[in-house]
Order: sequence, then structure tokens, then C-alpha cells
Amino acid sequence: MIKIKKNILLIDQHDRDGIYAKKFGGSYVPETLKKPIEDLTKLFQKLRYDKKFIEERDYHFDNYIGAPTPFIKLQNLTKHLGGAQVWAKVVSDANGGAHKIYNATVHCLIAKKAGKKYVVGDTGAGYAGKMLSMAAKKFGLKCKVFMGAKDIKRQKPNVDAMKKNGAEIVPVYSGSQTLVDAVSECMRYWVANCQSTHLVVGSTVGPNIFVKICAWSTAQISRELMIQMKNVFGRIPQRVKLINCVGGGSSAMGFWNEFMDYSPKQVEFVGVEAGGPTNSKHHAAPLSNNAKIGILHGSKQYVMQNKEGQISETESISSGLDYPGISPLHCFLKDAKRAKYTSATDEEALAAYQLVTKLEDISPSLEPSHAFSEAIKLAPKLKSSIVIVVNSCGDSLKDKFIIKKRLGSYKR
Ligand SMILES: Cc1ncc(COP(=O)(O)O)c(C=O)c1O
Repeated sequence: MIKIKKNILLIDQHDRDGIYAKKFGGSYVPETLKKPIEDLTKLFQKLRYDKKFIEERDYHFDNYIGAPTPFIKLQNLTKHLGGAQVWAKVVSDANGGAHKIYNATVHCLIAKKAGKKYVVGDTGAGYAGKMLSMAAKKFGLKCKVFMGAKDIKRQKPNVDAMKKNGAEIVPVYSGSQTLVDAVSECMRYWVANCQSTHLVVGSTVGPNIFVKICAWSTAQISRELMIQMKNVFGRIPQRVKLINCVGGGSSAMGFWNEFMDYSPKQVEFVGVEAGGPTNSKHHAAPLSNNAKIGILHGSKQYVMQNKEGQISETESISSGLDYPGISPLHCFLKDAKRAKYTSATDEEALAAYQLVTKLEDISPSLEPSHAFSEAIKLAPKLKSSIVIVVNSCGDSLKDKFIIKKRLGSYKR
């Protein structure tokens, strides 16, 4: 049985090669990238323990991102479901509307320290790209974003935001024209431009250093939540369920990090993957469907693949979850039985979006709507002393055209 060590951050529980639990992660990159990755690893290792850098990061988290984001009780939803209490960490209130701002801000600060003038990143839902374009503009960096052509069409509001911020958007026409192809093209670009350009991987995926930087950045979410829960309840309640959608896994890692050493009986982690349209065979849910281990984007992980090991195409109403792989950190959590993973279909996510927006004054995007769907399934079966917290990690505005098409109208 794989064990998680206590008092050591999960991102530091890998071996010399960046492998977690002897089987996930690593850094499988072309020779050209070995040196830039080594340099970035050394720089990050220095900066993360540098008091001045932490002060700088916290200054921007507070005064640019607007930390802390609210932690609120969803009174009407709780009453409607008639069981466990349902709360939300409204991360969509962060500047830009989603958790991707933490990773983008930290990466731009690192890029400045590395003396780089250009940043390049991938995006699916457009939030990673939008946030990178915002942070790049703020810190005076030139920004390029790779995005699947299918996602460019379905996430227009975020595409417009990137353009407004002066980012160059490179449409990706290969493969399924979604996130997986955007990440591949972005990494390919970096191979040829790594001397001048800093790479920003938009989730806790990719070669190990990018997994670490991203999870380290989003951990702000659970740092805040820990304080907020203690303020509200006087302590961390006896039974808590932290429910988060999972694409690459960055918001879930950030939401859970501080609670890692609690017993799973007290603080349970539930990850919700994208089941795609009802009965889809192309779902983007490797953890809840026992996918096999493979290598994608430079790291070993459970990944949707065919018999020959070729990466499978996926489909989901939410671009942000439409990804065949998953962070090695989540593979580790799954095998250590620290987190449970399940999935929600497109239809379930839409229904959850409808119910939450009808009863409450928050408007989750389709990614966190997957997490709300699980909360809606669980709450009625549980006692009112149990506290469910959903990470409402993105704002629905980016999905307004999809929602209008599927449900007939969209109101913010
Ligand atoms: C709002 C939102 N939530 C969730 C995700 C999924 O990514 P991750 O699992 O890295 O948080 C995305 C990705 O674009 C997103 O935009």
C-alpha cells in the first residue's frame, strides 16, 4: 500500500527523478529541455524559501488577486437538499474569475527573476490563458497562448479577454483541437524557444517542476480555507468533504493541500472528473475509470489510451476538464486512498449549474458545476453536522454561449 508521508508537502514526496510513489510523474523531455528544466528547478527551489520572494508573492496575492476569496454557506441549497451543510469557497471571485491566476502570477514572478521577457502557455477553458495574459501585462512580459481551435470557438469570452490583454493566441488544429493538443504544441514551441521564453504549464501536469510550481501556487486556496473554517466553526469540523472538479488537477490540489495530514475520516477529498455526454465512451475521466499508466506531456500518469497505448480523444461540455491525463499528484492520492474520484456527465453538470444559480447568488462555470453535481448527490444522504465544501473555482461567464445553447438562456 502506497503511503503519504506526514509533515512533508506532497509536491516534495518524489525521488531524484521526480517520480512519486515509484510510478507517477518524472520529467520525460527531449535532451534540449534538460538544461532549461534544471535551471528552472534550481531557481524555484531557491525562490520558494526566499523570504523576500514570499513577501512579494503574498503582496500580489492580496493586492492583485484579491485574497482571500469568500467562504460562504449555501443556505438555500442546503435547505433544498435537506441533509449535509453545503458551503462554497468562491475562488471565482479572484481577479480574472478562476484559480488559474495563482499559477500565472507565480510563473510571471519567476520569469522576471529568470530574466525572461517572454512567457508562453497552454489553455483549454481559456482561463489559464486569460490569467497568463493578465499577469504578463501586469509584469511587462510578452505573452503567447496555444489553444485548441475547438476551444477557441467555445470559450470566446476568455479568448476576447486574452486579445484585449495583448496576448498572441496560436490556434491548434491538430488532434481533437482541445487542451491536450494545445499543451503538446506549446511544449513543442518551448523546445525551440527555451532560451528566451519561460514556459507556463496551465495545470499540475507536465514535467515535474511544472507540477510543483503549479500546486505550490494554488495551495493559497486551502491556506485561506483552513483559516476561514477555523473562524467559522472554531475548529476543523468532525466530518468535512472537500469536493473539487478535476481536469489536470490544479484547483483540487490547491483546495486540499493544507488538509493533507488530516485523517480521511475527518477531511475527505472527493475529485470529480468529466464523464462527458451521458454514455460517452470518450469521457475525460482516467481516475474514476481505472485507466492504465502511460506517459503524457513529459510525465507518467493514469491516462485514457487505447490498447496500443495511443492517447484517446475525449469529450466534455467543459473545456477545462476535457483532458485525457491527470496530475501525477492525483494518481498518488488515488493509489494511497487519500482521495476518492468519481465523474459527472455533461447533463449532470448542467443540471447542477441550473440548481445552484437558481437558489444561490453564485454562478459556477461548467467545471465546478461537475463538483456541485456530486455535492447535490451526496448531501441529502448525510447528516446536517457534516460539512460539504465545494470549490467554485470558475465563473460561468466564459460558458455563456454554451449554456444559452443548451438551456435556452443565460443570465449572470
Ligand atoms: C474554472 C476551471 N476549473 C477547473 C479547471 C480544470 O483544471 P484543473 O484541474 O487544473 O483545476 C479549469 C481548466 O481550465 C478551469 O478553467
